[in-house]
Amino acid sequence: MHRTPRFIQKSVADASADLAAAKQALLRTPASASPKWFYDRLGSHLFEAITELPEYYPTRTEAAVFAAHGAQMARHVGVGATLIDLGAGNCVKATRLFPLLEPSQYVAVDISVDFLHDALRRVQREHPQLDVVGFGMDFSQSFDLPPALVEHRPVFFYPGSSIGNFTPAEALVFLKRVRAQAHGGGLLIGVDLVKPAPILEAAYDDALGVTAAFNLNLLRHLNHLLGSDFDPRQWRHIGLYNEVMSRVEMHLEARTALVVRWPGGERAFEAGERIHTENSCKYTVEGFASLLQQAGFSEPRHWTDERGWFAVFWASAD
Ligand code: AVJ
Repeated sequence: MHRTPRFIQKSVADASADLAAAKQALLRTPASASPKWFYDRLGSHLFEAITELPEYYPTRTEAAVFAAHGAQMARHVGVGATLIDLGAGNCVKATRLFPLLEPSQYVAVDISVDFLHDALRRVQREHPQLDVVGFGMDFSQSFDLPPALVEHRPVFFYPGSSIGNFTPAEALVFLKRVRAQAHGGGLLIGVDLVKPAPILEAAYDDALGVTAAFNLNLLRHLNHLLGSDFDPRQWRHIGLYNEVMSRVEMHLEARTALVVRWPGGERAFEAGERIHTENSCKYTVEGFASLLQQAGFSEPRHWTDERGWFAVFWASAD
């Protein structure tokens, strides 16, 4: 016998507001779509496939940083915490750290509810004694964990450089929210670093076209959510490094002039017109440390791989 993980589904009250916002974003020029729409079940699987690609260095590099420096990180983080995993996905990154961090409670938050559900059943099976809680929610706009839920010192875990989906200004707002809920604990966060454009562009436009499929899948997901009639075949994947903004951008570009329709609306696109689907901001170590300090964290520490491609920061909220 083992426990069944508790699962909390955030109210779907704002779901219709979300869909209205998605339509609004499609109607603007330039059009955009939030990267959160990548992650239906298939999208989460495609992201998992991306992490296996030779060109996609972040996951592998971050894992190497944890493997090399995890024990030292654990001395800062301390054992017995409530580990709050933001964007837990398949929960693999967090569970790998369990032997070092020995959390007393594991709270996994993710927008991809079904995917998280499956992952947490595995976690609970492998850690029958651990208090495991699933939280199905979109934490990109705002998030407040019910304080009663967090039973030990709160340690937030935000790996994978998902923070890069925010602009630096948005990231600061987000980090302040985390800081406000991290009293006595802190934040362990993975951050992708600035590097030459060809390496970045290969990572976001791989030879097999897995990233292209991941990007195009957003159109299928929107069709499901909005009742729209996007035809993925009419769109081309773009992944490029915007050096000025220090971010990789993904776009979907219309191959021909076309019209997308949904109940109550439509949007015409010219040939070559784009939908901006993702920013993946890249930081310098100094830049990110200063962001953490601006958010109210004290003396951030960091560890990197030997190429200096990826950093993991520990920011204490004492
Ligand atoms: C999950 C947001 C960290 O920005 O690298 C991977 C998503 N997009 N390939 C990233 C992603 C294209 C990924 N994050």
